[in-house]
Amino acid sequence: MKKVLTGLQPTGVITLGNYIGAIKQMVKYQDIYDSYLFVADLHSITIPQDPKELASNIKSLLALYLACGIDPKKNKIFIQSENLYHANISWLLECNTYFGELSRMTQFKDKSQKNKNFTSGLFTYPVLMAADILTYDVDYVAVGLDQKQHVELARDIAIRFNKKFGDVFKIPEPLMAQEGTKIMDLVDPTKKMSKSSTNPKGVIRLLDDVDSIRKKIMGATTDSGMEIKYDPENKPGVSNLINIYVSLSGKTIKEVEEMFKDKKYGELKKEVADLVVNEVLDIQKKYNEIINSDEINKILDDGIKYTCEIAKKKFELMKNKMGLHR
Ligand code: TYM
Repeated sequence: MKKVLTGLQPTGVITLGNYIGAIKQMVKYQDIYDSYLFVADLHSITIPQDPKELASNIKSLLALYLACGIDPKKNKIFIQSENLYHANISWLLECNTYFGELSRMTQFKDKSQKNKNFTSGLFTYPVLMAADILTYDVDYVAVGLDQKQHVELARDIAIRFNKKFGDVFKIPEPLMAQEGTKIMDLVDPTKKMSKSSTNPKGVIRLLDDVDSIRKKIMGATTDSGMEIKYDPENKPGVSNLINIYVSLSGKTIKEVEEMFKDKKYGELKKEVADLVVNEVLDIQKKYNEIINSDEINKILDDGIKYTCEIAKKKFELMKNKMGLHR
């Protein structure tokens, strides 16, 4: 069976973009692939975090995974920092990654501009991500478009390592949905919807109250003209709404364009809001049942045991190949 893996950072409540770009995909893949899903908490500390808040966000993200339909029987679910091999493997990979490669990562360029006094962890972050991926010999990495460059770097690192030391890693491929790979900000639809956005009106979070979600969608920036047509370059606002509709309804872009052919922007917004609110209400109901149950701990115990065994073997193999042994 082919394997798929992904992780999300526990920095604040995840957005509709994270849900559509990553979690919803995993809900689909869990029926066809051997699935690994973790909380990327080591990635989140590349930017300063409040410890209490971080711990609570980790738990909340795990509850959201389950509430969104991730089935613990079909996924290995774990917290990245509990698996000590990830950081160890990352170091071995760092010593096989070039400064120039990491300097070219667009996310690093963006984030280092926003946080002038950035940590070295922010710079080496993509290598840790490569470690997460390569440890499990996965076939696919389920990500949104913004993470594609990091998956490509993981491939480059793996190919180089294999050439130098022998066959150690499977070469993974990014797996992205046809639509919804990049959900845009509702206020500025030329920017991706991001947890760190400064304007909350542009971002839908899965635990926002549904009235405010409806308001944000009804207030979304649209474009000049009247036509409801998918054209991200000239009509980024309307295209983003169509993209959300398509991702949640399972309809094609063509079908959605046809449905709204003679309708106004306001009608599209209302229908998108109905779809989002319906889906979010269901997630929130399940979240409230799960967040205070013991279910999460048991799932994590199973997940960490399973993934540590695999990671230990990969770490030992890497060390041996590199000459790090008695
Ligand atoms: P993170 O936490 O920033 O985002 C989690 C996932 O959500 C996707 N995503 C989006 N998709 C569509 N539209 C958007 N607006 C949007 N915003 C975010 C991201 O592409 C991602 O798939 N480094 C990763 C976490 C990570 C990881 C890994 C992922 C660590 N190790 C190994 C895959 C494999 C990150 O920061 O994602």
